Amino acid sequence: MSVLVVGASGAVGGLVVAGLLERGEQVRATSRDPRRLALPPHVGTFTADLDDPASFGPALEGVERVFLYADLHDPEALVAQLARAGVRHVVLLSSSAVTEPGAEEDYNGSRFLRVERAIDAAGLDRTFLRPGGFAGNAARWSWGVRADSAVPLPYPEAVQAPVHEADIADVAVLALTGDTLVGAAPVLTGPERLTLREQVATIGDVIGRPVTVVEQTEAESAALLGRHVPQVWVRQIITGWREAVGTTPTISDAYPRLTGRPARTFRTWVEDHAALFR
Ligand SMILES: NC(=O)c1ccc[n+]([C@@H]2O[C@H](COP(=O)([O-])OP(=O)(O)OC[C@H]3O[C@@H](n4cnc5c(N)ncnc54)[C@H](OP(=O)(O)O)[C@@H]3O)[C@@H](O)[C@H]2O)c1
Repeated sequence: MSVLVVGASGAVGGLVVAGLLERGEQVRATSRDPRRLALPPHVGTFTADLDDPASFGPALEGVERVFLYADLHDPEALVAQLARAGVRHVVLLSSSAVTEPGAEEDYNGSRFLRVERAIDAAGLDRTFLRPGGFAGNAARWSWGVRADSAVPLPYPEAVQAPVHEADIADVAVLALTGDTLVGAAPVLTGPERLTLREQVATIGDVIGRPVTVVEQTEAESAALLGRHVPQVWVRQIITGWREAVGTTPTISDAYPRLTGRPARTFRTWVEDHAALFR
């Protein structure tokens, strides 16, 4: 039986494919445009769109477990397609937003909850990976760092515990290669709390030149973010920063508990992606 990785072009999905191949698993991979996938020839690649469940038909042949992104409009239809095809276990890249108070009403929390609930309602075995904010969100600062050695921010004292995408992928691979995480919903965070200002300073430290924070208003931030991020996310991002000022985000012990290794630091993430900022 094979494992199907949906979204093999993604930051997490790509590492899930690599981790499964390292373990000698039979892997299939999808993208809406598989020409973007550079995978060994023995990995079957397929065109499939989460918003067109029927497009998964060929990719699902002989597949027992699936790694899934939650970016879809009709979770019930997609999950029904997986169940019909004989998939037994779904590992969903969800979000810690589902654990926040008011998740049902929140745009972000509710879209992940809908997918989680569709999977549960179909009676499939499941593992819900619930990461907090990704370290990779700092990639949005790369243009400012490269051009001006500066990052404009409205709330530099917002506190986060950014998680490395490789940690999420490691736990996904664990879940996809056995039954120990069936029914689990680990919240994944980084190992440390850092303000945005400290994250910016870490980038400067790694690339070997100082990077400064330029304070801006919410309106200025919204205008700047809107050039790079869909409007629906601009408010979410700014509200998230505002509400994170002076907070003490919980550090999850799930990654070290499940893998026996310390979670990767934000500094490691910057080192792994330093080319973005140079
Ligand atoms: N950023 C955060 O702080 C954060 C926190 C918690 C959860 N998350 C969630 O984590 C996910 C992002 O992970 P990432 O960084 O690995 O993403 P990414 O690098 O942006 O990749 C997204 C992947 O999803 C696939 N995808 C998107 N829509 C699809 C569709 N309609 N049909 C098929 N595949 C589709 C894409 O595949 P193709 O384009 O190749 O088809 C791509 O491989 C999102 O769901 C996000 O909401 C993010």
